[in-house]
Amino acid sequence: MTRICVVGLGKMGLPVAALFASRGHVVVGADINQRTVDLINAGQSPIGNEPGVEEMIATSVAAERLRATTDTAAAAAAADVIIVLVPLLVDPQDAYMPTYGALESALAAIGRGIRPGTLVILETTLPVGDTRKRMGPIIEQASGLRMGQDFHLVFSPERVQSNQVIKNLLHYPKVVGGIDAASTAAAVQFYREGLAIEVHPVASAETAEFSKIAECVYRDVNIALANELAMCAEETGVDISEVIRAANSEPLSHIHQPGLGVGGHCIPVYPYFLINRQSQTRLAQEARLINDGMADHAVAVLREELGTVAGKTVVILGLSYRANVKEATFSSTLLVARALQAAGARVLILDPLFTATEIAQYELEATGPNPREVPPVDAIVVQAMHEAFHALDWRDFAGARVVLDGRNTLDPARVTAAGLRYRAIGRGTQSAPVNVP
Ligand SMILES: NC(=O)c1ccc[n+]([C@@H]2O[C@H](COP(=O)([O-])OP(=O)(O)OC[C@H]3O[C@@H](n4cnc5c(N)ncnc54)[C@H](O)[C@@H]3O)[C@@H](O)[C@H]2O)c1
Repeated sequence: MTRICVVGLGKMGLPVAALFASRGHVVVGADINQRTVDLINAGQSPIGNEPGVEEMIATSVAAERLRATTDTAAAAAAADVIIVLVPLLVDPQDAYMPTYGALESALAAIGRGIRPGTLVILETTLPVGDTRKRMGPIIEQASGLRMGQDFHLVFSPERVQSNQVIKNLLHYPKVVGGIDAASTAAAVQFYREGLAIEVHPVASAETAEFSKIAECVYRDVNIALANELAMCAEETGVDISEVIRAANSEPLSHIHQPGLGVGGHCIPVYPYFLINRQSQTRLAQEARLINDGMADHAVAVLREELGTVAGKTVVILGLSYRANVKEATFSSTLLVARALQAAGARVLILDPLFTATEIAQYELEATGPNPREVPPVDAIVVQAMHEAFHALDWRDFAGARVVLDGRNTLDPARVTAAGLRYRAIGRGTQSAPVNVP
């Protein structure tokens, strides 16, 4: 039995804490949010829509294997292993430079409590070099201990996706890289014994940091390629979905899906950790421009359909960055809405996962959730196809003339049967010959 402290009990930290507790370890979670701490101590989950987590919390709190506190230093003092999942945010107004405040204050608190012999694992995605050069020294300064000598320090990226965190934690290999060999070895043993999962040790903390950024850049560039191909397909009159299915039937081809853009915590953000610090990042930068530029492409498609978007009303389905996840961080909806507003359109947001007040926090106008309550609109844009939208009857949107399927998930026949035009990313209006036997 290992005594574990998880610092940061959000969408990632809480499932990690709950999973270790459900495996018989004693876990203390630390978070600055009193409500989060109170809910967990009452056996409840402050995060929704994460399969398995609610049950794990209820059982583990009842069995006194999981509790939460706002006193990070005290929790760190009682731990053999400390896992850090406090976000490192970036500021889009400042060239996506990292804003270190929350993470650094968490590390200083850990430093005030940490005992010699502790293993500290940073799971928050970091720019290359930060574990050793920036985070370790904060703990050293607050504790008077030396990393490597008095405590182990490791970077191990969290590679999971919201909505399937427990499943991913148990099935994705855990990449682990320490500031020295002893740190790496300690973390390898911890994950293997603690969760019985496959562990993938790498040469250094820097290698592990880089691997997470490389994953994100790969996906961003791949999606940018899909988006570029999609725009070519629109000009050619072929359907990009069919092109990609055919191309990917060759085992070495893994083209992702095109869409209105790329959102969420990771893919649109972490490429900047590379772009901002290294010189050879032309492709990564171009991918960011292409993917964010899909918002302007959406406006161009609607302009084609409506003549102009100035003075028109457009409803966007989904504030979320992806279907069935209540998460709007860097959602493509924000870029599409701003591009439409800049072109003179009124934008409404229909998303049953968010309250009107939550939508208003993004300076956007909420509508619905029943389409019949939506004021007359000229166009509908589908950004995140939540399950709640599957039963929509397009006829219920008064005045609507066109649906732009930003995720290529709709049945075009249902849209056109309702008397609306159907447009999708990568499917133009001119038709190429169809000769399927
Ligand atoms: N959300 C994702 O899909 C995802 C996926 C993979 C990796 N990650 C990684 O996980 C990290 C955490 O993301 P998240 O989605 O859990 O964030 P989140 O915003 O859901 O939760 C962060 C938590 O940290 C707490 N916190 C903030 N400052 C603190 C401090 N000083 N001390 C203690 N707690 C503090 C907040 O109160 C909050 O509960 C990200 O930065 C990213 O590196 C996230």
